[in-house]
Amino acid sequence: MKVLVTGASGTVGGRVVRRLAEEKVAVRAVTRRQDSAAALRAQQLAGVEVASADLRDGVAVSALLEDVGAVFLVVANVADQLTQEQSVIRAAAKAGVRRVVKLSVAGASPDAPLALARVHHAAEQELAAAGVASTVLRPAFFMENLLQFTGWIEPSGRLALPLGEGAMPMIDSRDIADVAAVELKDSSPGNRDLVLTGPEDLTAAAALSRIGEAVGRPLYYADSTREEFLRRYLAEGHAPDYADDIAELYDGILRHGYGAGTTDTVREVTGHRPRTITDFAREHAAAFTR
Ligand SMILES: NC(=O)c1ccc[n+]([C@@H]2O[C@H](COP(=O)([O-])OP(=O)(O)OC[C@H]3O[C@@H](n4cnc5c(N)ncnc54)[C@H](OP(=O)(O)O)[C@@H]3O)[C@@H](O)[C@H]2O)c1
Repeated sequence: MKVLVTGASGTVGGRVVRRLAEEKVAVRAVTRRQDSAAALRAQQLAGVEVASADLRDGVAVSALLEDVGAVFLVVANVADQLTQEQSVIRAAAKAGVRRVVKLSVAGASPDAPLALARVHHAAEQELAAAGVASTVLRPAFFMENLLQFTGWIEPSGRLALPLGEGAMPMIDSRDIADVAAVELKDSSPGNRDLVLTGPEDLTAAAALSRIGEAVGRPLYYADSTREEFLRRYLAEGHAPDYADDIAELYDGILRHGYGAGTTDTVREVTGHRPRTITDFAREHAAAFTR
């Protein structure tokens, strides 16, 4: 039986595909885009079949689930995220899969301040009602989020974001993938809810300083306003609703330390310590030094 991995061209899904391939688990990796499918095939990962399909296409989703025993479900925060998630969950239940591992978010609830957290909650409700064993993953702020801002780093090494002095337990997405791989292989029944964090609470200033030390280029944090952040983020082409959510997450939640607090779940599930910001920086040194 295979593992179906959605979002296989993305940050977490791509790492789940690689992790499962390393463990010789058969994978069906799905992406909408032909160029992403070609890039995945070019990796020539043993046991990985690449499928081009759009999760908006119900017939295609049913076909993706043939011979599938477990599903890794990640959908980007797009306008029809919930419809896509519901389509996969319903088809997975119909196909009789053993487990669905869903990438969600901390604070998912019907009255959450972020639209994306309300959408995740609705998808979780669908999953809970589907009658399939499930694992809901609630990771902290991905360290990889910082990669989208490397172009904003000034020649002096200064990066301005609206995160203030709020600390958060940033996580390396490789650790999310490692936990997901354990859960996807698990054949025991039951539903699990896992809050995943990195090893320590870090302010943006501490994270940048540590990255700078690791890559040999002084980097430092400067505070910016929600308005300035939104102006730049929107100029990069992000959808306005999504940009508003991210601005609220940074300026309204993380700035005030509401995201702080570590768990030991990565170590408990995988047996290894969660990666540090220095581990992350070494992996992505080129992105921070060019
Ligand atoms: N970033 C964080 O700090 C954080 C923290 C907690 C939870 N999360 C959750 O993690 C999920 C995102 O995970 P990720 O970063 O691994 O995902 P991602 O890399 O942003 O995207 C996953 C996949 O979504 C597809 N996609 C991208 N744009 C799309 C669009 N406009 N329409 C349809 N599909 C699109 C792409 O697949 P194709 O190849 O098919 O285009 C992509 O591979 C979200 O649900 C988010 O709420 C994020």
